Amino acid sequence: MTLAIAVLASGRGSNLQAIMDAIENKTLDAVVKIVLSDKENAKALDRAREKGIKAVFISPKDFAQKIDYEEAMLQEIKEHHCNLICLAGYMRILSPYFVQNAPCRIMNIHPSLLPSFPGLHAHQQALDYGVKYSGCTVHFVDEGMDSGAIIFQEIVEILPDDTEDSLSERILIKEHQIYPKAIQAFGEGRLRQEGRKVIIQDN
Ligand code: GRF
Repeated sequence: MTLAIAVLASGRGSNLQAIMDAIENKTLDAVVKIVLSDKENAKALDRAREKGIKAVFISPKDFAQKIDYEEAMLQEIKEHHCNLICLAGYMRILSPYFVQNAPCRIMNIHPSLLPSFPGLHAHQQALDYGVKYSGCTVHFVDEGMDSGAIIFQEIVEILPDDTEDSLSERILIKEHQIYPKAIQAFGEGRLRQEGRKVIIQDN
């Protein structure tokens, strides 16, 4: 079954692009039904529209409460019968309301080896800490911040002269590989969660 995806993005949208490219080159059997953003000028919205995908800016400022804003997003997601929600650089923390009322699972990509360096500025956190390796993580979203069960991780070596930019550039290459791969494994029904562990069945 082709997976119907909703993507939530706030910025440049390179992970969204990787997902759309993987669909186009048939390594990912999915369709992006809708892209939602909390930022009117998000490049992610342009990238989606270029591909003829519905892209909607929903302004959090138009809603009195966060859950009303999130309910508006959930309505869009439900109307499009999505069976996976992918966060791709979505810069707001989802409330427990969203997570509990989502019609399907939610995935996220984070630019560190979780549980190290959750939250903002993950690359700088890794550099400041002095770790020798960092990387990226695709995980299911739960009610915490970057705390859901881990699906895939990829390692990137930290070089002596690395800056936030140079490290983020190398990690991004890996992000673009593992996110579509994780989505495909989910679509094929190959991800089984037992407690915190996600078991990936062979295809
Ligand atoms: C990526 O580094 C992702 O890991 C993090 O936010 C960034 C989004 O980049 N969650 P992009 O908008 O997909 O280019």
